[in-house]
Amino acid sequence: QSSTSTDETKTTKRKNLLDNASNLLTNFLSGGKIGSMPIAEGAVSDLFGKPFFFSLYDWFIEHGSVYKLAFGPKAFIVVSDPIVARHILRENAFSYDKGVLADILEPIMGKGLIPADLDTWKQRRRVIAPGFHSLYLEAMTKVFTDCSVRMTSKFDELLEASTGKNEIELDLEAEFSSLALDIIGLGVFNYDFGSVTKESPVIKAVYGTLFEAEHRSTFYIPYWKIPLATWLVPRQRKFQNDLKVINDCLDGLIKNAKETREEVDVEKLQQRDYLNIKDASLLRFLVDMRGVDADDCQLRDDLMTMLIAGHETTAAVLTWAIFFLAQHPSKMKKAQAEIDVMLGQERPTFEAIKKLEYLRLIVVEALRLYPQPPLLIRRSLKSDRLPGGYNGDKDGYTIPAGTDIFLSVYNLHRSPYFWDNPNDFEPERFQRQKASQVEGWAGFNPSRIPGALYPNEIISDFAFLPFGGGPRKCVGDQFALMESTIALAMLLQKFDVNLKGSPESIELVTGATIHTKNGMWCQLKKRSSSSD
Ligand code: HEM
Repeated sequence: QSSTSTDETKTTKRKNLLDNASNLLTNFLSGGKIGSMPIAEGAVSDLFGKPFFFSLYDWFIEHGSVYKLAFGPKAFIVVSDPIVARHILRENAFSYDKGVLADILEPIMGKGLIPADLDTWKQRRRVIAPGFHSLYLEAMTKVFTDCSVRMTSKFDELLEASTGKNEIELDLEAEFSSLALDIIGLGVFNYDFGSVTKESPVIKAVYGTLFEAEHRSTFYIPYWKIPLATWLVPRQRKFQNDLKVINDCLDGLIKNAKETREEVDVEKLQQRDYLNIKDASLLRFLVDMRGVDADDCQLRDDLMTMLIAGHETTAAVLTWAIFFLAQHPSKMKKAQAEIDVMLGQERPTFEAIKKLEYLRLIVVEALRLYPQPPLLIRRSLKSDRLPGGYNGDKDGYTIPAGTDIFLSVYNLHRSPYFWDNPNDFEPERFQRQKASQVEGWAGFNPSRIPGALYPNEIISDFAFLPFGGGPRKCVGDQFALMESTIALAMLLQKFDVNLKGSPESIELVTGATIHTKNGMWCQLKKRSSSSD
């Protein structure tokens, strides 16, 4: 045994030496190309006092669409260009892995899709992606509306209890977070957190875990890997306890799903007869369609990944959509007018989403201005040649293996080179076509995918990346978009919303998602009549 491990160490050392030599050679042959890349200076001091992605934007305007950012001994390449993004995410996707992000998320998500190594990812993506079938999404519409009703009923009750006043104040960000947690619990593993109306140890553990994931993602050094930190540092101990509470809950659900597997349900699932299945959750699909022998540990990692990936992201989209609408009363009225005409007082159905065009565009415009997450993270597995971007070095750059990359979706989405008035909230922009004056970029053309409900990376040729792109694109994109459209429609159907303070008083914080420092406090009033 020990001679085997010595052999393995020797092989690893040999491989590292070879990798280093090949990196040096690549740099040499490319004329040290990476060395000619613009470098953002004064980096570390600028990192404090404002969200990281704001600084990356300033440097993008100053240094161009591909630049190098060095903090101390660590360097990252920051990409803000659709042509380079397309190359990294789609054309040469398998030459990259998730790098620092995998280090951060692996202790939480194990071998779930986001941090998974390539082999595990290939196998699990093939199993999970078919679970998000359009008929599954149709069945989920009921979950989205039921949970949204729970939220709006709670607001109604609060209004009734606010004797005399016809207005309540609440932190809508927290409310959206509860709503999204309830939806993801029911949609992914048929578990009702009930967090809109109550607290529970599992809910507390989910928030504790999210908090830690958030904290870790603002550090790019995995301090939690220091020996014994897990048990000696109180916050790390709490994190381990929180993880255990969630894992026990998920293990129980997996066990139950396996024990209650019935052939009749399997047949219904095979025929995609979701509307007649008691439990249409993704877990049921994974257990029924893939057999009881699906590995419990892998299933748990898959569920945990979707719980984390699909919760705060959606809550953030709703938060920022309201933030922008509250500053544009005429756009809020336009949305409400659409709801009145298309829905009246009815609940939205799967078919109705198709008619709520303005609502859909509001959701994507919120995602354009505040993408979740604002940065995608990659590490090159081998040396690669990045294509020339629209500005900066037209020949591109050769990068060695092991290069860490921040692909700034925030910069892409607010790039003055691809968007008119990039910082303005203007959902209507997605209805217009924009011809390209940039070599290598195909321009913005909403009719590139006929019938697509929501604009995406294809119609914008990678200038708009709300869900990433290429093989590792979000699996839950349509789930999230429909959920957000429905929740927003049901809120605005009944209530007018104003911000409590000025928009400037809402401070931003970023980790995995962009959220507020102290909540998004709003005033809610019941709409007096639907045509207001
Ligand atoms: C991946 C965004 C909702 C599950 C991603 C990625 C983005 C993203 C940008 C790509 C990450 C990368 O390339 O590094 C969002 C946003 C959401 C959302 C903005 C809400 C508005 C959801 C939901 C689920 C989900 C609801 C599940 C139910 C996943 C998974 C991956 C992923 C599993 C990894 C895919 C893979 O690597 O194969 N998401 N997501 N997401 N998302 Fe989402």
